[in-house]
Amino acid sequence: MQYGIIILAAGKGTRMKSKFPKVLHPVGGKPMIEHLIDRANDLHVDAPIVVYGYEDEQLKRGLSSHNITWVAQQQQLGTGHAVAQTTLHLADNVTYLILLGDAPLIRQTTLTELANASQRSGIAVLTAELDNPFGYGRIVRYADGHVESIVEQKDTGDKEHQLREINSGVFAVRGDILKKLLPKISNDNVQKEYYFTDIVALANAAGYPVISLLIKDKDEVLGCNNKAQLAQLERIYQMRQAQQLMMDGVTLADPARIDIRGTLSAGKDSFIDVNCVFEEAVTLGENVIIEANCVIKNATIGTGTKIKAHTVIEDACIGRNADIGPFAHLRPKTQLADNSKVGNFVETKNAKIANGAKINHLSYIGDADIGENVNVGAGTITCNYDGANKHKTVIGKNAFIGSNTALVAPVSVGQRATIAAGSTITKNVDADTLGVTRNRQASIKNWKRPIKKK
Ligand code: UD1
Ligand code: MG
Repeated sequence: MQYGIIILAAGKGTRMKSKFPKVLHPVGGKPMIEHLIDRANDLHVDAPIVVYGYEDEQLKRGLSSHNITWVAQQQQLGTGHAVAQTTLHLADNVTYLILLGDAPLIRQTTLTELANASQRSGIAVLTAELDNPFGYGRIVRYADGHVESIVEQKDTGDKEHQLREINSGVFAVRGDILKKLLPKISNDNVQKEYYFTDIVALANAAGYPVISLLIKDKDEVLGCNNKAQLAQLERIYQMRQAQQLMMDGVTLADPARIDIRGTLSAGKDSFIDVNCVFEEAVTLGENVIIEANCVIKNATIGTGTKIKAHTVIEDACIGRNADIGPFAHLRPKTQLADNSKVGNFVETKNAKIANGAKINHLSYIGDADIGENVNVGAGTITCNYDGANKHKTVIGKNAFIGSNTALVAPVSVGQRATIAAGSTITKNVDADTLGVTRNRQASIKNWKRPIKKK
């Protein structure tokens, strides 16, 4: 079977009260519509058809990395009118899955199941049973149980009002049937709209009995009309990801308190405490411990490494058995080798920190290359910026940097060199040498402290 995908995204989304097109609002850090484009990729559909109307430039820019067949719907005259705009792009023998751009949680397995079900006649609809069906189109059945028609909320009479089975909005329809029936949809209804749902009665009349598939997990067809529903979708999506992580062997302190806005892959026995946020692509090895309240974006963290509470990491690569935080800030292009330590209130940026090196307290290490087993004392600062350009600091292996040192770059400190605490180093220090720049201590006997004036 060959699949096609049609995503309806021309609605204004007024109730979102936003300047952005509704379908670009993110769920799990990714625009809602991109979740549906991912489903198209799963099904090997190379150019899903997107029907757009409002803010087309923003929409096209937001999705510029995807191959999409864009179809304009100048006026939003209804879902039937929206699908009709795609007619020129439809092929007879392709099964088209019609999706709503604001319902991003549909699973690929559901779509293939619906498409398979549609093969019997060429048309199938995905339905759900809701406790409160208000607002949805209702599924009306013949006495023998076959689907007869869909009646929209505003067109329901007393009889349809009782029906709890609703139209999810997702259909699978063969191209030739769409081409034949779309022109027959009229706007003769309460809302004076062209309802795509009228295709059900039309298909029955044309000899294509409509198949229905009742969804098991109703969450899959939830749509988003306002920010409250957006938050609801987000929670469902996050819970799905948390479940997957736990199935993969990760221990979560609380699956309801983790947010993954991108992809997180983690090895066995890794532990993630509450309120951690992961963005873009994050990879954890095995036995990694992430304590509470960490924000980690686009990073690789090696096996056995511990990230202590309140640490923020962005664009960094961390080796095995490293020890980071609490309250560390690893900024872009930080590379920490195995067994390295970065402690509290330390900020790193564009820094390469070798095996066993330690920067334990209150430091800024930027544009630097720190050798193996170097000990950087508390309060050490690399002065990497002269107000116009950035310069590099290089520290050789086994060097010892005393506390409160300022390293004015460009500068280098040789292997095994020592820097005396409180020094401001402006010239290179050779290997095996002591660098010291402060005045010698004077001791003044019987020193009298100043006395407060009356
Ligand atoms: C639609 C269905 C209803 C179903 C419900 C499920 C119809 C007539 N009704 O109702 O049976 O229960 O979805 O959520 O289809 N759109 C366009 N162009 C238009 C109108 C809509 O592209 O002219 C797009 C919207 O952007 C949206 C989707 O189609 O993504 C659905 O439109 P919406 O107005 O939300 O339809 P509902 O009234 O919710
Ligand atoms: Mg809707």
